Amino acid sequence: MTSTRTHKAVVTVAARAPLELATYPTVDPGAGELLIRVEWTAATPLHLHQADGGLLIQHPAILGSTMVGVVVQVGPEDKSSQGNVSFEVGDRVFGFCPPLFGEKARAFQEYATVPSWCFGKVPRDTSAQEAATLPENFVTVFNTLSKDLNLDTPWPKPENYRPTHADTPILIWGAASSVGQYALQILKFYGYKRLIVTASAQHHAHLQELGASACFDYRSPSVVQDLLKHVTAADKNKEAAPVYPLIIDCIGSQAGSLSPLSRIPQSGSIVAVMLPVILKRATEDQAPEYSMDVEASAKWADGVVTRGVRTHFFAENYLQREVMPTMLAQRNVVPNRFRVVEGATMLERANNAIRELRRGVSGEKLIWRVSDE
Ligand SMILES: NC(=O)c1ccc[n+]([C@@H]2O[C@H](COP(=O)([O-])OP(=O)(O)OC[C@H]3O[C@@H](n4cnc5c(N)ncnc54)[C@H](OP(=O)(O)O)[C@@H]3O)[C@@H](O)[C@H]2O)c1
Repeated sequence: MTSTRTHKAVVTVAARAPLELATYPTVDPGAGELLIRVEWTAATPLHLHQADGGLLIQHPAILGSTMVGVVVQVGPEDKSSQGNVSFEVGDRVFGFCPPLFGEKARAFQEYATVPSWCFGKVPRDTSAQEAATLPENFVTVFNTLSKDLNLDTPWPKPENYRPTHADTPILIWGAASSVGQYALQILKFYGYKRLIVTASAQHHAHLQELGASACFDYRSPSVVQDLLKHVTAADKNKEAAPVYPLIIDCIGSQAGSLSPLSRIPQSGSIVAVMLPVILKRATEDQAPEYSMDVEASAKWADGVVTRGVRTHFFAENYLQREVMPTMLAQRNVVPNRFRVVEGATMLERANNAIRELRRGVSGEKLIWRVSDE
């Protein structure tokens, strides 16, 4: 049932046009849903792909899947819904809501009506701002590992758990990205030891703290040879290909990551690439172009398996409710470093965030306050 209440939302109106303010109905929560007052969201490259490239949206659209907010109303059957966490009015929660739940469940608005299974409680020692850096890419990494790389992510993790691929070299290209930082930490948590990454040199020390066993600068002209040599020199007896059986491309840039990276996998390697493939990056002067076809976006050796990661279709009802808050509270994952995008109003902050994404981000998550304090 829809109440007569309304609230403000920020919407796209046309490709590369400034976002605008609109009024939307505040939807009462149904069974298993929560109404939350949205406090914080994270700016993610997807917002740029959508605002500038119209990727998978029709204007006008409310953007945003990541939310930190306070529960203001609990739907009628929440206490009996799946999972073992129930929510009370006043709880501070964080979560990632796939777009299939429609505009009422989007982040760029004062109030959102969301499925409770997409949310967990923010741990006591975590600020709302820190919490905003997690949901989208925490879920993305579980999706990538389980659906695209066929790796087990058991929960709870059994004591003395040792994955089959504990000593397999895993390449994470673009590990300074938000996706890359959570990939490192989650793989380390599950006991993967050979996490070999590319990133700018200034991020290497931090990435080693998060779990990288070796770091290479992706801008080096010899990066591909160096990555291959690193493994073959260590595994002198390794005759069987592939050198890197498992690869995650956290960037998905045709020229910037896929082109060099595609020279590394051999028959039998699986390469999971964050979609979309970016053919032209959105900047202040350039409109973007994208492709959803990983296979056609680079020249791959025979027998390489490519996967385009699509987290918007991933749903595990315990992940955001239980795994994400527990791993954060236990510091199995630490939040991304972040920068707050300022602005006098919700609309100004949203437009400033899009502008900052066009300028480019390095090693930090942009977050912004949604409803005014
Ligand atoms: N399909 C899905 O399910 C899904 C889910 C999540 C994200 N994504 C996509 O994944 C991409 C990354 O998202 P994000 O939020 O993690 O981005 P992000 O944090 O904004 O990424 C910024 C980082 O990218 C790195 N980078 C840029 N070009 C690079 C290159 N050629 N090689 C290596 N690193 C490079 C930079 O590293 P340095 O600072 O070291 O230069 C920078 O730190 C986006 O396109 C996003 O839309 C897709």
